[in-house]
Amino acid sequence: MKKYRAGFIGCGGIATAHADGYRHVENAEVELIAGSDIHPEGEKARRLAGEHGIRIYEDHREMLEREDLDLVSVCTWPRGHCEATIAAAESGAKGILCEKPMAVSLDEADRMIEACEKAGTVLAIGHAHRFSPQAVRARELIQAGEIGQVAMIWGHCTLDLMNNGTHVIDLINYLNGDSPPRWVMGQIDRPHKIEGRRNHPDMPVEDMAIGRIGYGNGVVGFIELGERASQSFSFRVIGSDGVIEVNNPDGPPLKMLSSYRTEGWHTPRLDEVYSTVCGELEELISTVEGQAAHRSEAKTARVALETIMGIFESSARRCVMEFPIDVRDFVLERMVREGMV
Ligand SMILES: NC(=O)c1ccc[n+]([C@@H]2O[C@H](COP(=O)([O-])OP(=O)(O)OC[C@H]3O[C@@H](n4cnc5c(N)ncnc54)[C@H](O)[C@@H]3O)[C@@H](O)[C@H]2O)c1
Repeated sequence: MKKYRAGFIGCGGIATAHADGYRHVENAEVELIAGSDIHPEGEKARRLAGEHGIRIYEDHREMLEREDLDLVSVCTWPRGHCEATIAAAESGAKGILCEKPMAVSLDEADRMIEACEKAGTVLAIGHAHRFSPQAVRARELIQAGEIGQVAMIWGHCTLDLMNNGTHVIDLINYLNGDSPPRWVMGQIDRPHKIEGRRNHPDMPVEDMAIGRIGYGNGVVGFIELGERASQSFSFRVIGSDGVIEVNNPDGPPLKMLSSYRTEGWHTPRLDEVYSTVCGELEELISTVEGQAAHRSEAKTARVALETIMGIFESSARRCVMEFPIDVRDFVLERMVREGMV
């Protein structure tokens, strides 16, 4: 088994989950070496250092220069993702798992992809739900034709687009076989004028969003987010011969109704996984070793970001947006600056 040296940029809540994931991967020996944080003496960074015996730096560039890391977890707030990812790639990291949202603009996302391609670094983005047993099984059942021709996929969550909304859009894309989106229209509102929330303290957030996404394979995605969303993180896939529900709050994590089966609502068997983050990291290592493509490689996450920017821009212009979405800035920030929301 190969050995890897791993480190963190941003040492807060999700970095702890990455550290735990590295400790449980089964396809490599990973040594946790160091972390960096703009608050190196903060409670979270100290806890990560204490639990895993790693050195903590204030400056990630110094850490990258000194520690010769193979694997880097980018776990900062969203505005730090681009610069940290590029710095890690340029330092010679073989694989990077950067947390969601990938970046705050398509311009940043493209610079991250370009830097990683140039350096030969595998870049995966933390859309961890692609590794949840219920999502994996749902995708298999859809691809096996158990609910016939898929017409529509609904996704709901109570947070904003750049926070868990990116998971919602990405999971719809995953369930839909990553068919490319062709158009999107949406609407947002921001009555509370919130500047920063939870682990996104450095950016504005909308309070409510809806979006309708048309895919190349004819499927329509519909997302409902924010404070008036009817459900937390849940999905419904509607096909010509049945329905699949993922994470229905009142039921098992996966339910299916299929006209090909006689038992009515059916609860498909699910594999057990240690954690979705561990799955992401194992696949990062396999991809670094050339054995697999990462199911959450940066280009898939760029599609989710492009869709988010499309929803913001659709709301600003009051029209359908066709792909490719030709905006380079953080659209929500512009809308706030111009007093639109
Ligand atoms: N995949 C998931 O399901 C999931 C879950 C939680 C958080 N996240 C994402 O992870 C990221 C971090 O969230 P969190 O919950 O760990 O937040 P957090 O506030 O607990 O931790 C973030 C840490 O990063 C540090 N930091 C911020 N900007 C930095 C920078 N530019 N350079 C170095 N350090 C920096 C902060 O000081 C803090 O210690 C966010 O983008 C969030 O959306 C993803």
